[in-house]
Amino acid sequence: MKNLMNTYGAPELLISHGSGAWLYDQTGDKYLDALSGIAVCGLGHSHPAISEAIALQSEQLVHCSNFFATSNQQILSKKICDISGMSNAFFCNSGAEANETAIKIARMYGKNKGIEIPTILVTSNAFHGRTLAAISASGAKKVQVGFEPLLTGFERVNFNDIHAVKNIAKENKNICAVFIEPIQGEGGINIPNDNYLNELEKICRENNWLLMLDEVQTGNGRTGEYFCYQHNKIQPDVVTTSKGLGNGFPIGACLASGLASDILQPGSHGSTFGGNPLACAAAIATIDSIYSEDILINAKNIGQRLVYSLSSTLANVTAVKSIRGMGCMIGIELDRPCKDLFSIGIKNKIIINVTAENIIRLLPPLIYSEEEADHLTNTLSGMIKSYSEQS
Ligand SMILES: Cc1ncc(COP(=O)(O)O)c(C=O)c1O
Repeated sequence: MKNLMNTYGAPELLISHGSGAWLYDQTGDKYLDALSGIAVCGLGHSHPAISEAIALQSEQLVHCSNFFATSNQQILSKKICDISGMSNAFFCNSGAEANETAIKIARMYGKNKGIEIPTILVTSNAFHGRTLAAISASGAKKVQVGFEPLLTGFERVNFNDIHAVKNIAKENKNICAVFIEPIQGEGGINIPNDNYLNELEKICRENNWLLMLDEVQTGNGRTGEYFCYQHNKIQPDVVTTSKGLGNGFPIGACLASGLASDILQPGSHGSTFGGNPLACAAAIATIDSIYSEDILINAKNIGQRLVYSLSSTLANVTAVKSIRGMGCMIGIELDRPCKDLFSIGIKNKIIINVTAENIIRLLPPLIYSEEEADHLTNTLSGMIKSYSEQS
């Protein structure tokens, strides 16, 4: 690994291939994946429809630049707008890049309204990616330290505190947009009150702010609806997504509607690779498979089964403070730091993740069978019980 930058620490496994919900190392050992490449491979690994779409498209045209139209980009933009109720899409390559697009839309929207220092309302514990604008919008100091000066033009309130938003609306006339994850992922699977997003939408409408949702992690079926905001039946002005959009093929999107939809004009934004025919082919196949295989319903059912079974097997474990989730986005909060559980998981042949120091984060593929869900519950519960007795 001496030729790689040390951005991710020393890896514990060399993965050779994957199939469905399972990953295989180079010795042939298999691991039940409860992370999906960090909320990416919702349809599991080596999904035949997606592999075929990528293979066929690669024989036709991989890239031609955004100077030209391609039918794949047209088909994908129509599909994603029909699903989301948004009116147009900008395609890019990652979550952070989609978020950069949203931030630029908000700033230009503010400028067009005559606001000299357009300011975006963001939240504590937010995570929006690793570019400079994205770390400035993010809430955790650890992603910002050493990279100052950060971007200005952000004001922060506590996540899930609607009164704080109401107060800022009275005080700060530079605010032009709210940018928020419907459920905080990296921040610890923080699920707001049921009507938080509805109230945010109302405040945005009253103040002519853009409601901008970061659905990079929550989107593409993860929570049991295609987008998480659809549980609340609201219509945002800007939605960003990426991760699960291409089931592992890199692609991101910034979707806009209403006032936000014609802010960006020729020359104001772009991306060389964004929305190329190959990436779009992967995303089209992913979306089609999500619907033809009833993945949203499975994500809901499997998620409920996991939360229910984990809650009952861990009911008497005092180290467990809370088990929460929506669809296949689940957090188990312990009363102590538990980063070691990642390595312990590997020894027990399951792939899990720990975020925000003490939250076990489960992001299993949305295709899990009931048997796979139960295997995860049994293995993980055993691990948590012995960890809480020893640590
Ligand atoms: C909510 C959210 N936004 C943005 C990002 C950044 O996405 P990417 O790593 O594709 O730039 C992430 C990644 O974890 C995320 O969870």
